[in-house]
This record gives sequence, C-alpha cells and structure tokens, in this order.
Amino acid sequence: MKVTTIGSGYVGLVTAACLAQIGHDVIGADIDKDKIKQLQAGKVPIYEPGLDEIIAANTANGRLSFVDDVPEAIGASDIVFITVGTPPDENGAADMSYVKAVAKTIAENLDRYKIVVNKSTVPVGSTVLVAKVIQENLSERREFDVISNPEFLREGSAVEDFLHPDRIVIGTDSQRAAGLMNELYKPLNSPIVITDPASAEMVKYASNCFLATKVSFINAIANICDAVGADVKEVALGMGYDKRIGFEFLRAGPGFGGSCFPKDCHAMLSIASDHGYDFELLRGVMDMNVRQKNLIADQANKMLEGLKDPRIGILGLAFKPNTDDMRDAPALDIIPHLKKDNRKIVAFDPVSMDNAKKLLPDGIEYVSDPYEVCEKSDLVVVLTEWDEIRWLEWRRVKEVMKRPVVYDTRNCLDPQNLRRLGFTYQGVGR
Ligand code: UDX
Repeated sequence: MKVTTIGSGYVGLVTAACLAQIGHDVIGADIDKDKIKQLQAGKVPIYEPGLDEIIAANTANGRLSFVDDVPEAIGASDIVFITVGTPPDENGAADMSYVKAVAKTIAENLDRYKIVVNKSTVPVGSTVLVAKVIQENLSERREFDVISNPEFLREGSAVEDFLHPDRIVIGTDSQRAAGLMNELYKPLNSPIVITDPASAEMVKYASNCFLATKVSFINAIANICDAVGADVKEVALGMGYDKRIGFEFLRAGPGFGGSCFPKDCHAMLSIASDHGYDFELLRGVMDMNVRQKNLIADQANKMLEGLKDPRIGILGLAFKPNTDDMRDAPALDIIPHLKKDNRKIVAFDPVSMDNAKKLLPDGIEYVSDPYEVCEKSDLVVVLTEWDEIRWLEWRRVKEVMKRPVVYDTRNCLDPQNLRRLGFTYQGVGR
C-alpha cells in the first residue's frame, strides 16, 4: 500500500522504515530540508538499534524515500500518518499546533479518499479535532477518514517493538478505514484492537501512566526495603511470578525519564482536570518521581560526607540504555544537586555525551573511558544501566580507585562481587 509519514522524527522515521520493511511503498516527509537531505544521503539523525540498516535496505530497494515536499508526499499516498511532535505546553497539555498545521496541509492536498492516521501521542478527542481542521480547510467535498493508531515504541527497542508489537490499536468508526488498516498491518501478525477513537487515544495515555505508576511504586517499595533491610530485587522477583503483576517495570532506580512518561503523565493530568477529574493517584506517581531523584542525590552527597574536595564519577547519562536521548534523564536533576561547592565531576556515557553537554552545567569533564572516570573519583555513581558499565572489569576498577565506593542507582551490578573485591557498595532498596 502507498503510505506517507509526515514528520520524520523518532516515531515518523521508525514507522516509515518499518512499514517499508513489511512491504509497503513509503514516503517519509518533513519540512526540515536539512533533515531530509541527511536521510537521502543515508544519514539517520537518531540513534536507534537496527534503524540504519532497514532504512538503507528499503531506500536501496526503492520502497522507502524521503522528501521535503509534503504536499507531493500527501498526494502520492492512500494512508497519511501524522507523526509530528506534540510537546507539552506551559501547563503540561499537549501542544497540538504542529498536528493542526499538518491537518491543514492534508486538506489542501486531498485529491481522493485517504486515511489520515494520528500516530503521535495526542489527547483524547484529537481524532475529532483533526477531522474538523481538515473539513474546515477543504476547498471541495472530499471523502476521508481520520483514525487513531497510537505507537507503543520504547526508545532503544523501537524497531523491534514496531515489527513485533504486543498489540496494534486502531481507533475508528469507519469500517472502510478499519479494513484498510487491517490490510496495512497484516504482515505483522499481531493482535489488532479496533475500537472507537476516544478509547484508542485513551489506551496510549493510560498505558504509559500505568507503566510510570509501576516504576514509582517499586521505587517506593525500594525505599521501604532500605528501611526494613529487604532486597527490592528479591521482592520484585517474588511479585513478578504473579501473572497479574508480571516482572516488567519493577526495576527500582533514580526515577523515570524520557520523552514520553513525564510528558504523558502531565498530559493525562491535564486531560483529567479539563474534565473536572482530579487524578490524585497519578499526581502521587509524579511527585514520587521527583522525590526519587532528590533522594538519590541526597544519598550520593551523604556518601561523600567528610571528604575534602571530593571528586564524583558518573557512569551513564542517558535516561535509559541503548539511546542517546537525554530528555528528562534523571542525570539532569541529580548532577546539579551533586555539583555544589564546585565539586569536580567526571562523566562517561557510551553515546549521549554530546547531547548531555548541551543540557548539563559547565565544568563537567566528559571522558570516553569509564575506567578513567573511576580513576578520577572518590565516588562512582551509576545512573544508566548500559552493558558497557554493567560488565566493567570491577577488579581493574578497584585497582585504580583510591576510595572504592560505588552507588549503583540501577541495581545493575552484583553487590556480593563488588563487596568481595573490597568496594563499599550502595544500591537502591538492596
Ligand atoms: C515508554 C513506553 O514504554 C513506550 O511504550 C511508549 O511508546 C513510550 O514511552 P520509553 O520512554 O522509550 O518508552 O522508555 P521505557 O523503556 O518505557 O522506560 C521509561 C522510563 O522508565 C525510563 O527512564 C526507564 O529508565 C524507567 N524504568 C523503566 C525504570 O526506572 N524501571 C523499570 O523497571 C522500567
């Protein structure tokens, strides 16, 4: 089928590449001429495992192309995905201005029946809003359907998540559109939930807010485990065998970050309060997340007490492994708390240091060798559970550290092994 994605950012690029990968003819469109030039030259602007390869393969076989002429791209396709950003506005609600602008352009180029797909994370009611904007901008009567098809892509595994989804959610009242979307996604052999637009839009927010709730919950349990002398990893293991709970998203840490959970929690709060519902539980989840980052920073500062001019090493900056994304990364809140009294901070991350430099305070030394971080530190704080950090030769680290103290905020290291090597080991809830 002929598909266009409008907005070649994180969601748009993965959607375009994967739809081409499963056999469709896809045009990735964006008004950003430089970004399109980069893509046409085979340079992928985001770090996502596997994405380079499928973009290269599908541009080579002609199924995938990139253009900066959005009207042309709309005219050439039967299904048009809106994959532009919906960043939070000043009071946390999703800014729909980019989506509305695209809807207007679609209306101006609607030469035959098309399906318009809201792929970006959009507030409940956006399908109706997009249809209204299109209707208002049509120069003549035209048939079209606007549907909701939220994405459930995790950064660092987005290609895998797209090609092997747990489920596909389609929100539409049109049988015709439902049939065509079934055909589009047939090669994925995934369960498809076809429901009304409002419910489909709600699935996205409810899913992300529930996952964020699991993270804040296990972080709270970790803090209680610290107090009562239990090990939160053992607790999560004992919980996870219960099929109603599951093992996923029960890893205690410095709090959730990224471009989705914080944004979607704020948006959900905003949606609820706009309709007169005070979502107290979710507010608690978000407050807990802020508190967790402060707690981690306070604990790190406590581990430095008594040291004159302590030097702090940070291993891992990205909000999670396998991504260079620093959006809402816990490091952005924790490091400034550590940097007081102009303490020396040296940091390492396998891929996100360039992004981190733009967002963290000056005066931090960035090094490309994690052992150098350890050598220059009186305390090493693991903030992201990269494999490159998890599998360091800790015996070698012990040899280079004058004061072998490690704060593993991701519980990704083996406490017994480190303590046997002579480290002072601190985890979260362990
Ligand atoms: C999330 C959703 O998982 C995905 O379905 C949605 O489409 C986009 O938002 P993402 O933000 O990429 O994906 O990351 P995810 O892997 O979900 O982690 C979110 C945050 O929670 C990260 O900061 C991560 O470190 C944290 N987390 C996750 C925990 O602290 N503990 C866990 O057990 C799991």
